[in-house]
Amino acid sequence: MTTGPSPLSIALDETYDPPLRPLPAAVAGLLRDVGAPPRLVAHLRAVHDVAAQLLDWVGAHRPELAVDGGAVLFGAATHDVGKTLHPAELSGPGSRHEEAGRDLLLARGVPPDLARFAAGHAGWDTETGIEDLLVSLADKAWKNKRVPDLEDLVVTALSRAGGHPPWEEFLALDEFLTHIGENADRRLAWQGAHSVRG
Ligand SMILES: [Fe+2]
Repeated sequence: MTTGPSPLSIALDETYDPPLRPLPAAVAGLLRDVGAPPRLVAHLRAVHDVAAQLLDWVGAHRPELAVDGGAVLFGAATHDVGKTLHPAELSGPGSRHEEAGRDLLLARGVPPDLARFAAGHAGWDTETGIEDLLVSLADKAWKNKRVPDLEDLVVTALSRAGGHPPWEEFLALDEFLTHIGENADRRLAWQGAHSVRG
């Protein structure tokens, strides 16, 4: 029997096609400890990398917007951890992983304000904070899925922070998401090369 790469290796080893930033070491250890399937670890790494790119872009484009970057990176790196308990949701629809993911993180000592991303990443409204919006946006942008109502909320936050009109922020975000989308096929192929079973 052949064994594929370990969760730690998928989370941390250097990648070339596409180049992906490693997950935070503490998250990598947590994913190993809970038995996260290889496909899930790969997905979290892809979304985490896009979240990091989004943070870099927001910081450069609209530094007036206060964002807790550490929370965004943690949220992106753990948002689907509940799929460890509901692996059918790795390849099909379902929302049971959301509450399960938050509970799993809480049980491992993660504070509620960081565990919340696991439960809340699939929904947003005008009350949603910028950190949560960026995690949700990264979870779409990694595969070049465009979600106008989600992007509008980010545009509103950018516009309020900098005092520039929404259309201007829309054009800037659109250009950046188009750039992110250019690597979507490579991310999808890399993620898909990892087994849904541990
Ligand atoms: Fe996801």
